[in-house]
Amino acid sequence: MPSRQGFVCVIALLSFYSETQGLPHSRRFQVKNHEHGTDPKPKFTEKYFPQILDHFNYNSMGNGTFDQRYLITDEYWKRGYGPIFFYTGNEGDIWEFALNSGFITELAAQQRALVIFAEHRYYGKSLPFGEDSFNIPEVGLLTVEQALADYAIMITELKGQLGASACPVIVFGGSYGGMLSVYMRLRYPNIVAGALAASAPILSTAGMGEPKQFFQDVTSDFENYAPECGDAVRGAFQRLQDLARVEDYRRIQSAFSLCQTPSSDKDTRQLNGFLRNAFTLMAMLDYPYSTHFMGNMPANPVKVACDTMLGGDDLLQALRDTAGIVYNSTGDLTCFDLYTLYVECADPTGCGLGFNSLAWDYQACTEIEMCFESNNVTDMFPVMPFTVKSREQYCSKRWGVIPRLGWLKTQFWGDALSTASNIIFSNGDLDPWANGGVRKSLSSSLIAINISEGAHHLDLRGANDADPASVIKARKMESDTIAQWVKMERYG
Ligand SMILES: *[C@@H]1O[C@H](CO)[C@@H](O)[C@H](O)[C@H]1NC(C)=O
Ligand SMILES: *[C@@H]1O[C@H](CO)[C@@H](O)[C@H](O)[C@H]1NC(C)=O
Ligand SMILES: *[C@@H]1O[C@H](CO)[C@@H](O)[C@H](O)[C@H]1NC(C)=O
Ligand SMILES: *[C@@H]1O[C@H](CO)[C@@H](O)[C@H](O)[C@H]1NC(C)=O
Repeated sequence: MPSRQGFVCVIALLSFYSETQGLPHSRRFQVKNHEHGTDPKPKFTEKYFPQILDHFNYNSMGNGTFDQRYLITDEYWKRGYGPIFFYTGNEGDIWEFALNSGFITELAAQQRALVIFAEHRYYGKSLPFGEDSFNIPEVGLLTVEQALADYAIMITELKGQLGASACPVIVFGGSYGGMLSVYMRLRYPNIVAGALAASAPILSTAGMGEPKQFFQDVTSDFENYAPECGDAVRGAFQRLQDLARVEDYRRIQSAFSLCQTPSSDKDTRQLNGFLRNAFTLMAMLDYPYSTHFMGNMPANPVKVACDTMLGGDDLLQALRDTAGIVYNSTGDLTCFDLYTLYVECADPTGCGLGFNSLAWDYQACTEIEMCFESNNVTDMFPVMPFTVKSREQYCSKRWGVIPRLGWLKTQFWGDALSTASNIIFSNGDLDPWANGGVRKSLSSSLIAINISEGAHHLDLRGANDADPASVIKARKMESDTIAQWVKMERYG
């Protein structure tokens, strides 16, 4: 789960006024919809919540507070009565999730809900210790439990301030945000009436899965489009490996338009990781229209990639141009700078760039387990193992921590969820994360939804003319189920 890339956010600040409900640092942003393929924009107000630094220790360095950012809109809300739709922010700037989750505001308009998008601590502008947040020991307050407690406190206090004490709360999230939504319902059922967890890999990230599954499923996306596509990718990686074996680094540099001449196995590994990551992102973000989420993607990137792989006569050039779909979407790179465009970290699917990637790397080094490998047998990528041992070595060196295997599973029930209730687990069949999540309903209120033509949390995006029937149907089920939860919470 790469955190959001360092692309330039296209938010236009049209108006600004300071008067809000008496909270500090309030600003009103209106966001203009001038970007093709981005969801329609509601008028969110950006605010900051004085949040407790350390919920679990009254004496620590965290006895103070920090400013936690959130976005709020009451434009659809039936004041004091309508439900609260609360997005449990994940590993990035909260605006990016708000701008790519139009379904939530569309649903809010139907169900007259108040909408809040809360930013996860240590991401975006919610840095507890400012520039020092990623020092040791300051980074230590970045945990799933602290983040959940933040949301529980924020919901409770905002309900009081807004005269919303009678309003049922439904949490929403995509990917790691969906995991947080599940956990909120498990941990704080007193506060949260139900959860929509879109593309939440709650099993694979708790160490309950196959290390080879992720890149196998990335590969399937390309092979399902065209079996020859997988062969071409395999062939290109083979050519690259042949050149690396004879240390023909000049040829590698020119074939891949690299800014620097590679000179070691480490550089070859970096190049392989960089290339594999392009396929990962295109599989995850294989939406039927162009998007600007985690970077810029054309419509149907898997198809575009395969057409590129199969289009030229030089396999290495085809592979370079395929990577360019992701890394050179602007068309203005003259060469690829391997170590700035891709950063290897404790998440083999990528941590993204910028300081958000530091936070995600730390989480991947502590609670979130992602020992995923590619092996060139069940997938089309070079052999790149990432074992429990190599994770441990990396994490102790980088962050001074040893991951605690199984802790997420112990805390959040693993797959023994049958006594929980009111959770929707939606997954898209095109999404390589899907098989790390819950794919079968576990009871009448633990509902799994498959979206056969969906990539990574497509259902959270706003309606689009190019939407496949399967996502339209999924959203309808989600909407009906949520309306029912709200009603149940109100009338028992
Ligand atoms: C935090 O605790 C220290 C003593 O350990 C104290 O000096 C400081 O004032 C406290 N800060 C806050 C914000 O309560
Ligand atoms: C992938 O496996 C095939 C078949 O064993 C082998 O010929 C090829 O060299 C491998 N390719 C890479 C890039 O490791
Ligand atoms: C980036 O795209 C432009 C426009 O298509 C192309 O001229 C350039 O060679 C590409 N850069 C790389 C490094 O592939
Ligand atoms: C969703 O798809 C998976 C994998 O193909 C399958 O095992 C599961 O039964 C399906 N679940 C539902 C709810 O249709």
